[in-house]
Amino acid sequence: MDPLWYKDAVIYQLHVRSFFDANNDGYGDFEGLRQKLPYLEALGVDTLWLMPFFQSPLRDDGYDISDYYQILPVHGTLEDFKRFLDEAHDRGMKVIIELVLNHTSIDHPWFQEARKPNSPMRDFYVWSDTPEKYKGVRVIFQDFETSNWTFDPVAGAYYWHRFYWHQPDLNWDNPEVEKAMHQVMFFWADLGVDGFRLDAIPYLYEREGTSCENLPETIEAVKRLRKALEERYGPGKVLLAEANMWPEETLPYFGDGDGVHMAYNFPLMPRIFMALRREDRGPIETMLKETEGIPETAQWALFLRNHDELTLEKVTEEEREFLWEVYAPDPRFRINLGIRRRLMPLLGGDRRRFELLHALLFTLKGTPILYYGDEIGMGDNPFLGDRNGVRTPMQWSADRNAGFSRAPYHRLFLPPVSEGPYSYHFVNVEAQEQSPHSHLNFVRRLLAIRQRHAKTFGRGSLKLLPVENRRILAYLREHEGERILVVANLSRYTQALDLPLEEAQGLVPVELFSQSPFPPVEGPYRLTLGPHGFALFALTPKEAIRVQTPDWAEEAPPEEVPLVPLEEGPEVLFVETMKEERAQRAFLRALAQVLRDRSWLPLKPERVEVLDAIRLEKDPPLYLTLLELENHTRRTALLPIRYSPRREEAPGLFARTRPREGYLYELSQDPGFYAYLLKRLKEGLEARSLKAYYRGSHPGPLPQNLTLLRPGLAAGEGVWLQVGLVQDGGLDRTLEVLPRLDLPWVLPPKGRLLWERGKERRVLALTGDLPEGEPKEAFALAQALAAEGLSRLQGHPPEGLSPGLLAEALRELEALARLLGVRLALLHRSLAEVEGGFSLLNRGLGAFLALEGEVYLLALGPKEEGSPLMDLARLAYDLERAVELAWEDLEGAHPELPGLAAQFLVEGALLSAYRDTALEFSEEGWPEAMVAWAEAQLHREEKPARRRILERWREKAKATPGPQGP
Ligand code: NOJ
Repeated sequence: MDPLWYKDAVIYQLHVRSFFDANNDGYGDFEGLRQKLPYLEALGVDTLWLMPFFQSPLRDDGYDISDYYQILPVHGTLEDFKRFLDEAHDRGMKVIIELVLNHTSIDHPWFQEARKPNSPMRDFYVWSDTPEKYKGVRVIFQDFETSNWTFDPVAGAYYWHRFYWHQPDLNWDNPEVEKAMHQVMFFWADLGVDGFRLDAIPYLYEREGTSCENLPETIEAVKRLRKALEERYGPGKVLLAEANMWPEETLPYFGDGDGVHMAYNFPLMPRIFMALRREDRGPIETMLKETEGIPETAQWALFLRNHDELTLEKVTEEEREFLWEVYAPDPRFRINLGIRRRLMPLLGGDRRRFELLHALLFTLKGTPILYYGDEIGMGDNPFLGDRNGVRTPMQWSADRNAGFSRAPYHRLFLPPVSEGPYSYHFVNVEAQEQSPHSHLNFVRRLLAIRQRHAKTFGRGSLKLLPVENRRILAYLREHEGERILVVANLSRYTQALDLPLEEAQGLVPVELFSQSPFPPVEGPYRLTLGPHGFALFALTPKEAIRVQTPDWAEEAPPEEVPLVPLEEGPEVLFVETMKEERAQRAFLRALAQVLRDRSWLPLKPERVEVLDAIRLEKDPPLYLTLLELENHTRRTALLPIRYSPRREEAPGLFARTRPREGYLYELSQDPGFYAYLLKRLKEGLEARSLKAYYRGSHPGPLPQNLTLLRPGLAAGEGVWLQVGLVQDGGLDRTLEVLPRLDLPWVLPPKGRLLWERGKERRVLALTGDLPEGEPKEAFALAQALAAEGLSRLQGHPPEGLSPGLLAEALRELEALARLLGVRLALLHRSLAEVEGGFSLLNRGLGAFLALEGEVYLLALGPKEEGSPLMDLARLAYDLERAVELAWEDLEGAHPELPGLAAQFLVEGALLSAYRDTALEFSEEGWPEAMVAWAEAQLHREEKPARRRILERWREKAKATPGPQGP
């Protein structure tokens, strides 16, 4: 264990009482908390701070302890506690509990004993015959108490209490008290807790003539506590000081690294709220500077809200007046020197402010603490007295009692918020898990980013950037070479800004939510941020930004190019009557090899035969070659092959010839070939080979630029051209059927290249009109969307991936899957009308083309036996493969990610969209169809991604009862 773990932690503060009631007695308990650990893990927090759960009369919500060694029975037993603790630890979570050292409840046996006349325990508390002692010491709970002294008739003396009258302060001048409290700490630490929050720590000692706060004696006691902890357990357990003080008063608690490990940044917290309302970074900047320079091993704990009032004790009077005025104009929300409201109501329910403040909480220097319920934007109830309004039950669902408890409503320890906009009917975990746009899912995403860069945010340096626009707070976090830039707009209006980023010149800001690179930093960096907007960037060297190249674009190095023995012209390789056996064999071997090595052909041929060829160009010779590919099955492919006497800087080189020096290129990846072919079609190509006529036409325009969307498919400027690289009869059917389909998203062919021999006819190429926009082939699009989506999920533990998160990250891909599901169903229906019977797509994603968010159908497959399920399986398979391939390119993403994503897409989106649209649909046989298709794909080519999909679907088919039932 890293002893400095607390520096990278994200803490979740909760009340066992308010969290989840497993035994339905109206109080949350340890068993309930244990059951909710998966929720917390999925949220992305890794440390829990539990508020007091010890024996107590609950007059101060448990901070009035009557037995430090007993768990309040409503929360369960010590066994329950241990079970919870073990499970939290198993999940990699740490647990911090309360050490209330300053006072006990009057019910504590120590006090009951101490008040008796002549009791030997008397010295455990602070007594006086007169309330005049320690005059001038402030009263903290000034709405409830008028003095720090209360007279006890049994003792016949006054006892000292800094908080409620029923919470007598322990007498730390008595070494027995200190010993007793060390024992309490040991008891819980022995059980395995990882740290202690030191409640009300500044008030341990009293000295006449002082404020009785932060006395040197108190600081020394804290150091002794740490020493005792480390002597017994070594490093690794932490102390967190609750010292609500000015900065210079808080710093001594850290000592020289021998005091507390952490202290709340009380000075910063209210200034965040100030800065937000003043729309000026000044208050934050000032406090960041004031709280600088703590020891290396120490850490601030950052928070926005907690179970107490938003304290305004340690701000100036003017600051307090301002904050009260803007955040609690209604006096009901004021208590003592603070504001008893939860975060969301404080922010007026404003989603933008909510996001902005969380962005600051998770990226400023320190360990963030999230108060339970704030992640879903829970509200408060001002009618509940004291600070109970911010301690209401966690809102799990819209069920009875907010899903917190099944107890009768009147038994609940506090009622859940059930009125107004924060009512549990609207604000609850269940609803927010469903929605990718919920507060909860936002916090999860932000936490995922925080966790991915935990060390930089937790330990990195913080440098404020002197942006001229004071509504902007910008800072650089840096740790071991990683640099993260945070820019936040405190204003409710859009702001423009120039970032002085001298040290980052040439680096590329990569936006952390989307992982998209921004323009590199050259000079001051100009940005605009919307109202209360913020942005997080990793400043990344250009070289580290990966550009994806499709694997089919990879070239074999020239020295590995095979040799074809050729003495005459290349016609001996293509023309049956001129064939030179040895040369042709070598040529076909080389061709088979290059076709195997490139991944885009759906069949990796063992053997290749020339069926027919026609020379389209004489110098240098260019052959359109009809080939038969064989590997278990046979396929016909049309490939353009050029012979060049000189070596060219062109793609597709696959063989060289000797002694007649020459080079053979396969041009299906060369956009130039497609432009050339289109031109020839436009001219009305007519040619004759030994076996057949070739006739071409293209009624559409001739674009200047054609882009290769994938081998076999090119498009540009209003035209598409598809070449039947895999001549499977699909183009014939496309030509015949597509013009008859009355579907607006179908692009029927206009031009063609026909191969005719007697009555036999084959379509080798098709052309057509393209709507405006930049075309993308659907598989490539799916892969790009998958890469984008998955990279947003990188670093997430898979247990944390709720459907909501997946939906948010994979939104674009999901939309594509849905659209495809709908379109496939519509297509099946139309094909059945036009062709009758089983009329199928018989193709996967490659049949579709996307333009400006619209998806068009370009081609059909051959008319073969099949079933609608098989078509669905093909699309599903392609979507899954897109995810798998994208994942293979992603570093450090969890191995379960593609499976989860695929399941979410395929079953959640594709299948359900299809089901909703199809007239008739039965899922029976669906897993089998997937397995069958995945198996067939493996026969084509064994690749890890294909294997993973097959395995996944085999598992799935096993788990799904077959047609005969389980
Ligand atoms: C600080 C706690 O946060 C607060 O809730 C409590 O009332 C006081 N300590 C007194 O115990």
